[in-house]
Amino acid sequence: MQLIDGKLIASEIKKELAVKSAAIIDKGDRAPHLVAVLVGEDAASQTYVNSKEKACRDVGFTSTIYRLEADTTEKKLLDIIDFLNNDDEVDGFIVQLPLPAHINVQKIINGISPLKDVDGFHPVSLGRMMLGEPTYLPATPYGIMQLLEHSGIETSGKHCVVLGRSNIVGTPLSVMLSRKANPGNCTVTVCHTGTRNLKEIALTADILVAAMGQAEFVTADMVKEGAVVIDVGIHRIEDNSEKGYHIRGDVKFDEVAPKCSYITPVPGGVGPMTIVSLLMNTFKAYNKEV
Ligand code: GUN
Repeated sequence: MQLIDGKLIASEIKKELAVKSAAIIDKGDRAPHLVAVLVGEDAASQTYVNSKEKACRDVGFTSTIYRLEADTTEKKLLDIIDFLNNDDEVDGFIVQLPLPAHINVQKIINGISPLKDVDGFHPVSLGRMMLGEPTYLPATPYGIMQLLEHSGIETSGKHCVVLGRSNIVGTPLSVMLSRKANPGNCTVTVCHTGTRNLKEIALTADILVAAMGQAEFVTADMVKEGAVVIDVGIHRIEDNSEKGYHIRGDVKFDEVAPKCSYITPVPGGVGPMTIVSLLMNTFKAYNKEV
C-alpha cells in the first residue's frame, strides 16, 4: 500500500508556482492577484479563507479578503462582484460558500465573470469543462486529477466509482474522469442516495472516490483488493483530547488502507490540493489562458 501524500505534492506544485511568480515580479510586473469575498462569520469559511490567503503569500501572489457583514444584501454583494469583474488588477476571485440564507447562491455565482471564475462554479465554466474547452476546473476535482497524475496512477480503461453527486465534487469529477484525456478515459459509475446496491458496485471499483460526506462510510468489505482509494471527506469528530476533536474522512482508513494499492490520508490527502488548484487557476487567470 502506498500513501498518496497530498501535502508533499501540493508543496511541490506551490514551489513551481513560487518560481514563476518570482520571475514575473523580477520583470517588474505585478503579481497574480486573488480576491476572496467572505459574507458572515461561518467558522469553517473563515478558516478556509485564511488558508487561501496564506497559500497566496507562500507563492508570492497578492491576496485580498473582502469581509462583509452577515446581513449584507444580495444587491450589495452583486455590486461588489460587478466591481471585481471590472477591476484590471484582480485576476480571479471567489465568493466563499455557504452564503447566508437570504442570498440566492446561484444568482451570485451567475454574476461572476467566467473570465475571473477561479472556483469554476459558473455555468459557463462548467459547460466548458463538459466540452473539454479551456476553463477553470473546480478546485477539489482538479486537485484529485492532479493527485492521480503526480502519483503516476494509470486511469485509462479503469472502472472508477464515485460515491456522491455534489455539484462541487462528485458530478464534475465524474465528467473529468470519463473524458478522453490523461488522467481520464475511465469508465465511471456515480453512486448516490438513490443507488440500491452501492456496496456491490463499490467492490468493482479499480479507483474508488469517497465524496458522500459521511464519516468513515467506506469500510473494508466495500473495497476490492488493490484498489486506489481517494477520500474527499473531512469530518471533525469530538473527543477528550486537548484539541477536543480529531479529523476523519469518508473512509475507515485503518481497515481499508491494507487492501489498497494507493490511498489518500485525511488530513494530508485531497485537502491540501484544493487550495493549490485555486492557485493554479489564479495563475491561469493572470496569463489570460481562459
Ligand atoms: N466552500 C467550501 N468549498 C468551497 C470552494 O471550493 N469554494 C468556495 N467559494 N466556497 C467553498
